Amino acid sequence: MVDALGLIERGLNRPDKIPRYVVGLLIPSSNWGPEWRRRGDVVQFEPGGYASSPRTRPEFASNLYHEVAGLGSVLDDHLEGTPERSIEVGCGYGRLSPWIAEYSEDHVGVDPDEDALERAVEQYGDIDSECGAETEPEAGLEFVPARADSIPFPDDSFDLLVTWTVLQHVPDEVIRESATELRRVLSPDGLAVCCERLRPPADDHIWPRSLETYQRLFEPLELVDVRERPVEPTWAEAMDTMRPAESVLVFRG
Ligand SMILES: C[S@@+](CC[C@H](N)C(=O)[O-])C[C@H]1O[C@@H](n2cnc3c(N)ncnc32)[C@H](O)[C@@H]1O
Repeated sequence: MVDALGLIERGLNRPDKIPRYVVGLLIPSSNWGPEWRRRGDVVQFEPGGYASSPRTRPEFASNLYHEVAGLGSVLDDHLEGTPERSIEVGCGYGRLSPWIAEYSEDHVGVDPDEDALERAVEQYGDIDSECGAETEPEAGLEFVPARADSIPFPDDSFDLLVTWTVLQHVPDEVIRESATELRRVLSPDGLAVCCERLRPPADDHIWPRSLETYQRLFEPLELVDVRERPVEPTWAEAMDTMRPAESVLVFRG
């Protein structure tokens, strides 16, 4: 049987040890919920955890709009022509995939979480990435199970690579192999766009890394731009007190 009083006493003595999901249950406005679980060296997310759990559908929609617009302006500013192939590593349930797909001839989303990929296929597998119309499942947007440190494509396969709040969830033990693998599949003059947390605090599922660390990990790619992660303005205010915003890093081969 659960010792409720004992748990409360432990929480009062060591508030830093209270699990985040308990805080989320007690204080819903904290936005803290049971949003992830660790399986070996892969952190996987509950569906509500992907976009840092906006509390309401309007907030989710607004946040997605701002995020997609911001991602689009990075791509507009840095892409020269239309990439033939693009890859989104850690695509989750594909909330950004159709938009990224609009920027290349063929887009592939990869993620180790097969439940999330199943949702991605359900949601977007039959969307024509060119015009948003429903068609037969098409080659322009596909989803493949894979981890960042083991991508099932040959060297130099992609002209554009996106990681959007993914590498920050890759533990230190595997980040080097993951970055090496990302560089391997990116074509020599390709573009890599990574939206990741640079500033502490770290916690049990986020490993913030400095700009210099990412530069070293992606060498010899050149860092050509750094921006704040675009988020819905009122949400950004609320978020800032709880966790630092991620940054968008743009590397070119
Ligand atoms: C916060 S979610 C972001 C998903 C998506 N990029 C988005 O913005 O909606 C992080 C994603 O990274 C994936 N992930 C975790 N470890 C990974 C790894 N080693 N390689 C590739 N993806 C990973 C998780 O399964 C999850 O889908």
